[in-house]
Amino acid sequence: MTRYTADSRDRVRGAVDMVALVSARTELRRAGVNSYFGVCPFHEERTGSFHVRPEDKYYHCFGCQAYGDPFDFMMETEGLDFKGALEALADRFGVTLETEAEDPAAASRRLRRERLHSLLGRATAYYARYLWEAREAAGAREYLRGRGLSEQTLRTFRVGYAPSAWDRVLTASRGAGFTDEELLAAGLVQRSKARPGQVYDRFRERIMFPSADARGRVLGFGARAMRENQRPKYLNTSDGELYHKGSQLFGIDLARAPAARSGRMILVEGYTDVLALHQAGLLGAVGIMGTALTEDQVRELARVVSVLELCLDADRAGQDAMLRAARVTAGSKLELRVVPLPEGSDPAELVAREGADALRARVESSVPFAAFHVERILQRTDARSAEGRDRAVAELAPVLGAVPPSVLREDLLRRVAGRLELSDATLARLMASAGPSKVGRRGPGGGPQAAAVKEVPMIDQGVRKERDFLALCVALPEPGAAALVAIDPDELLTSGVFRRAARHIAGRTASPLADLPGDDEELARVVADLVARAGRAGDVSAERLEHARLILEQARLDRAIRRARGQGGMDIAALAHERERVREAILEVGARLERAV
Ligand code: CTP
Ligand code: MN
Repeated sequence: MTRYTADSRDRVRGAVDMVALVSARTELRRAGVNSYFGVCPFHEERTGSFHVRPEDKYYHCFGCQAYGDPFDFMMETEGLDFKGALEALADRFGVTLETEAEDPAAASRRLRRERLHSLLGRATAYYARYLWEAREAAGAREYLRGRGLSEQTLRTFRVGYAPSAWDRVLTASRGAGFTDEELLAAGLVQRSKARPGQVYDRFRERIMFPSADARGRVLGFGARAMRENQRPKYLNTSDGELYHKGSQLFGIDLARAPAARSGRMILVEGYTDVLALHQAGLLGAVGIMGTALTEDQVRELARVVSVLELCLDADRAGQDAMLRAARVTAGSKLELRVVPLPEGSDPAELVAREGADALRARVESSVPFAAFHVERILQRTDARSAEGRDRAVAELAPVLGAVPPSVLREDLLRRVAGRLELSDATLARLMASAGPSKVGRRGPGGGPQAAAVKEVPMIDQGVRKERDFLALCVALPEPGAAALVAIDPDELLTSGVFRRAARHIAGRTASPLADLPGDDEELARVVADLVARAGRAGDVSAERLEHARLILEQARLDRAIRRARGQGGMDIAALAHERERVREAILEVGARLERAV
């Protein structure tokens, strides 16, 4: 991990022209010395509530309460992480970033990664050129055109073609100074079984879809078969040093900024789906490459958007994938919606068949996940038998129980009552008696889609951080005791039981299970859980504890800022400044932790 100096960061901040930066998103008018205003780029409004103070490098919206510095602005509008924002701003405002001196091990790891990135970048360019220039790729060009994909779209996604020969990439890469070991690590060649010690090109006679990280660096490929008897249909880069299919989102490099701006990301299954949507003008779409949405992917998506539009194939696998997606997003703040597609189709086919406008209309008419789920249960209900309807009620109760009181909920209830031929009152009574046992299992963090599909209670992300902090206090009795004495649990923690746990553990970090009060069963359970977690914590250090504390401190300041805003408080700038300092501390400790592993 390259790490830029604090001085670099300050120089970038100094060099940023706030007015120029913000003007790319909204028109600003001058309101006075060091003061501009305009229509807020973060929420819908007609009047200008958005203020910029260029000298302070600060923006603030009195309408939606967005605020921050140039880095925040870039992160919010482009969906970048801090480092990405720093690099983009440095680039734009002509600042040369300096990296801190690395220890030799970290430096050689970074060098290794850079070489593999460069190797994969070269291979990508090689395959792409081969697609457009080679005679043997004519069939592939024809096939792709026949699927309705334009040359421009294919070039945007750097789609390529792998030659049928066994050694083209191997030879070209060796010629460029790469070793066989590096080629193996990048997943471009594989070992020969017949001739030990020899390697040969992994991808041959296939259309190559390069899959990049958020910054556009290619990490691996999905390679589509061209011939009838060629198996598998898609040959992917195996999981290895750089590539992990489960954490990859195909097209994230292109989709991130448009999705961040609109607040929503469209999820599709396949490579060609992403290309087709992009070509139809739906730029914020990524492929999950198959069907199982993973927690890694969810984490990445949650950083960029708050709404996911599931646009998965309308087949059995795709439908099951939607239910799984609901389970995986249960602990996150992501709102799930479902784009209904006609039976048996996928988005790529639909664009080809019905055109771009029709698909855009379908995406715009997406429905809340709960509505999709209810519909699916009703579809499989045998409404002719009383037993079938009872089963449906039992299945529907937790789904509907999880939808907060709303017009949507009323609509769904009416729909169910109609379909099951029950009066509203009867349905309500049946729901109430079927409901609690399942609804009760819902954790506090789950969104409306969570309850019905989740087996284990999940805790809220924020509360999880509080738990992590306390577990580290137990794992590290001495610094843990010091940390607990220094904090005010009521300020730093939001969970009642964790506040009590913090008070109980302080002064007893070495023996937290001692002196537990007999009348607080919840506390006893939580402390026992913390002790168990501390025992499993693995690599602990005072730095990790400090990191965990800073994360809570940042959350505390976020709450204070929200409160101050709600009350029209004057101290927002001071709080924001303090938060900024905490965030820098988090980055510094975080970087030290990264280097330690
Ligand atoms: N997939 C995979 N390995 C396979 C089959 C599928 O990784 N053996 C992933 C690919 O990312 C693929 C997605 O699952 O794009 C969806 O599979 P499928 O619907 O079979 O392919 P399509 O994307 O529809 O491919 P095409 O349009 O070229 O038929
Ligand atoms: Mn498909």
